[in-house]
Amino acid sequence: MTHPSHRIVELGPDDDLFPDWCEVWAAAARDARPDDPPRPAREHVALGRELVAPGGSRNGTHRAALVDGAVAGALRLIFPLRDNPSLAIVDLAVHPAARRRGLGGALLAEARTLAAGHGRTLLVGEVDEPAPGAPGRAFAERHGWTRDLVETRRELALPVDADRLAALEAGAAADDGYELVTWRDRTPDALLADRALLERRMTTDAPHGDLPVGEEEWDGDRIREYEATCLARGRTVLSAGAVTGGRLVGFTDLQVPLAQPVLAHQGGTLVLREHRGHRLGARMKAAALRELATGFPEVRRVSTYNAEDNTPMVAVNEQLGFRTAGVLSSWSARL
Ligand SMILES: CC(C)(COP(=O)(O)OP(=O)(O)OC[C@H]1O[C@@H](n2cnc3c(N)ncnc32)[C@H](O)[C@@H]1OP(=O)(O)O)[C@@H](O)C(=O)NCCC(=O)NCCS
Repeated sequence: MTHPSHRIVELGPDDDLFPDWCEVWAAAARDARPDDPPRPAREHVALGRELVAPGGSRNGTHRAALVDGAVAGALRLIFPLRDNPSLAIVDLAVHPAARRRGLGGALLAEARTLAAGHGRTLLVGEVDEPAPGAPGRAFAERHGWTRDLVETRRELALPVDADRLAALEAGAAADDGYELVTWRDRTPDALLADRALLERRMTTDAPHGDLPVGEEEWDGDRIREYEATCLARGRTVLSAGAVTGGRLVGFTDLQVPLAQPVLAHQGGTLVLREHRGHRLGARMKAAALRELATGFPEVRRVSTYNAEDNTPMVAVNEQLGFRTAGVLSSWSARL
């Protein structure tokens, strides 16, 4: 059934309707994962401001689907500017009370038009699938998208069992030349260039399934931009890294939403190829979890996503006690 009276309008992060636009995301999130706090509006506002400000590594635009003047659907399109010039990232949600009336399809058609207008030929989007039968999956299939990457979501209940943490660290020789370091929110200047290389490697070395997305260009400025966005979103980032010969050769990030610090999110984790085999991934994760326990004892759970063929990372997570909680799938479509 097509909704009789919707219209699609452009809006920005500081417009009067934006809180209602954010509420669509919150309602969709509560519907999909009732036990998780939905993202606060502040996160969407901060990302939105980044996307409409000049000079960043990406820009973007927002649309709302209005039904009788009320926001019932939300679209955000992100265009990378420094790499992946053909790509548009599509974030799309319809309020659970307004579904199966064609609003999702109408917003997706708008996304295709906007992306084409920006010279983009490839769309990608993510679908959270807490359990089989997620609406986003049926929707994406209906529109002929391909499911290129499936990542298992895992959750760890905190506090972590002390024996498990100790066992994780035990496999490493204490004098193998790697020093574990931690920092919060701001990568030390001396490690910034190395950190940028690690982010670049995240886009080539971490498993991406069949997702047709290319290597990202990262430098120190982009790391600082990422750090500023995290802070503006109300997230603090606890990082651990491995250093040898003064060079940062691995990192892991844990993001804590400060307004609702019940659920923390695992960010990226990577060890440069030539430094693998020293249990650095496990040791960095253990170090970050110790920082989390010290600084934020109120965090009850950590969530993480891994491609199932990422055997070493999955093994570390299983050893820590992470348990599966649905999947996150990534989809693409050519224009
Ligand atoms: C996916 C989503 C945007 C769809 O919004 P919507 O307004 O219900 O979409 P439409 O009414 O345009 O649906 C178009 C078609 O998709 C398919 N579809 C959508 N939801 C479905 C469901 N729950 N079960 C089966 N098929 C479904 C159907 O073929 C539907 O056509 P029909 O209603 O004529 O059978 C909405 O369910 C949502 O916000 N989900 C959570 C966020 C998400 O997963 N976003 C997708 C990111 S790309």
